[in-house]
Amino acid sequence: MAAKRILSGIQPTGTLHLGNYLGAIRNWVDLQQDYDSYLFMADLHAITVPHDPKTLATSTLQVAATYIACGIDPERSTIFVQSHVSAHAELAWLLNCITPLNWLERMIQFKEKGIKQGENVSIGLLDYPVLQAADILLYEPDFVPVGEDQKQHLELTRDIASRLNFQFGSEKKPVLKVPEPMIKAAGARVMSLTDGTKKMSKSDPSEFSRIDLLDPPEVITKKIKRCKSDPIKGLAFDDPERPECNNLLGLYQIFSGQTKDAVAAECADMGWGQFKPRLAEATVEALRPIQTKYHEIMADPATLTGVLLQGEQRAAAVANATLTRVKDALGYAPAFH
Ligand code: TRP
Repeated sequence: MAAKRILSGIQPTGTLHLGNYLGAIRNWVDLQQDYDSYLFMADLHAITVPHDPKTLATSTLQVAATYIACGIDPERSTIFVQSHVSAHAELAWLLNCITPLNWLERMIQFKEKGIKQGENVSIGLLDYPVLQAADILLYEPDFVPVGEDQKQHLELTRDIASRLNFQFGSEKKPVLKVPEPMIKAAGARVMSLTDGTKKMSKSDPSEFSRIDLLDPPEVITKKIKRCKSDPIKGLAFDDPERPECNNLLGLYQIFSGQTKDAVAAECADMGWGQFKPRLAEATVEALRPIQTKYHEIMADPATLTGVLLQGEQRAAAVANATLTRVKDALGYAPAFH
């Protein structure tokens, strides 16, 4: 039996941080062992809010290099740039025309990001989830591993696929495969260093709220030293009154490679002044091999380009077959060649 397939992506806006790594990429590294994996840089999504044309291409390559540095194996996984496979934009158009406007107006992420954009909010931001649906449906994945914040977009993807199947397919022969979400448990989320109740995020204006995967050791140490804590001595997991404490212990657990019980015992009587240097050291050491590998990859652009070219070819073969099937179902004249 063929391996089941997964697909996921990250927008290449700004450098990736611990939340991207622990919440997404590290998970893909494990999944690629058992699943046929399609992982991409969502650069079409990256222009749904104002962007800088001078940095888009570099950011896209940097995210690809980061995937590989974190352990995504280009032989096992198909790594590609979304804008290089034109079927994404094309299927998004077709799906636009069967998606009711009020399905999009309900999207929480649109409401949140849209408010920040004010009057100038683009149609692209509203349409973002339809493009995401196209990303997914083109590859007929069995599962789409994403964070909790993407759940609504996956439900929308399922609704769009079902609607297209209902309108243009038959029960025996659905046009599109309806994918299943694979949502990470909320506890696995990495929170902001300046507010333990908020997710670590690229769009937070404070750099001290996150640790970027490429931060040098002294920056990591400084950010951890400055991060929000509380006046209580003795550190414990799972205290709802101490979200920062829980988040930092969780990070320490992961980076020190210990069990939760071992960390709980080690830190039970510790103060922050003793704990923070340990966390900083564990983080620096855990990121060191990723950073070394990243710089090696970026120093050899021809190899990276080769990976992305191969990725594009593999991805396009799958995506174009789905696109043709959808166009046929919608009644388009076949191309005359
Ligand atoms: N919207 C996703 C995010 O912000 C990124 C994304 C774009 C994506 N297309 C996708 C994720 C398709 C999974 C599948 O995290």
